[in-house]
Amino acid sequence: MTMKIYAINGSPRKNWNTATLLQHALEGVRGCLPDASTELVNLYEHTYKGCTSCFQCKKLGGSSYGACAIHDGITPLLEEALHADALIFGSPIYFSDITGMLKCFLERLLFPCFVYDKDYSSLAPKKLPTAFLYTMNVSHEQMLANRYPERLHAMEAFLGHIFGATTLVQYVTDTCQFSDYSKYKMELFSGAEKTARRETQFPQDCAHARELGSQVAAAIAHPGK
Ligand SMILES: Cc1cc2nc3c(=O)[nH]c(=O)nc-3n(C[C@H](O)[C@H](O)[C@H](O)COP(=O)(O)O)c2cc1C
Repeated sequence: MTMKIYAINGSPRKNWNTATLLQHALEGVRGCLPDASTELVNLYEHTYKGCTSCFQCKKLGGSSYGACAIHDGITPLLEEALHADALIFGSPIYFSDITGMLKCFLERLLFPCFVYDKDYSSLAPKKLPTAFLYTMNVSHEQMLANRYPERLHAMEAFLGHIFGATTLVQYVTDTCQFSDYSKYKMELFSGAEKTARRETQFPQDCAHARELGSQVAAAIAHPGK
């Protein structure tokens, strides 16, 4: 059967930092698994909400045990994601966290799989590797000083636990937010420096994203943990 790998874009922008890096990650996957089918999903194209705490996914004998009972724009996607061979999530950092849209998606994906027993066991139908690719305005040093990796690790740990496999991570810092900084009130940043970084550093970030894709492909064969 053809392997399926999804890149899930948590940015509203379909062709800027996060989306571009995710495309490169999928290129890295295809480089190792030429027969795999890959797809980039733009979450902001879908109409949906986060978990509503209805608990139908945990109701004993209920018709939705282990599955999200909400039927909306991501219902088919949640089912596809659970049966994928790997998932690569991408998100800009908004107020020190992943975007609300990605958070809502993950609540709906993960909570139904999460069993409230002594081991917090998982109802995920299969083991699959996952990866998180984050993009942010701050520099690498500011990212560490603001403790972003520690904050972001909580969701990575849930993903790794639910899907029983490796969660890989890439941080892309000091991103360029627009092609022309002179059009915006933004004296905190130097447009010239951001543009130069986009030209010199971003291609290297894309190369790292391709490497991340290769690691995801390798983890499909050996999911680890
Ligand atoms: C609402 C909002 C909040 C943001 N908050 C942060 C933040 O807390 N830390 C940070 O480093 N960058 C922050 N940024 C910048 C974005 O994370 C950064 O520009 C990112 O690379 C954008 O990704 P995109 O080009 O894929 O949309 C914020 C941007 C927006 C629009």
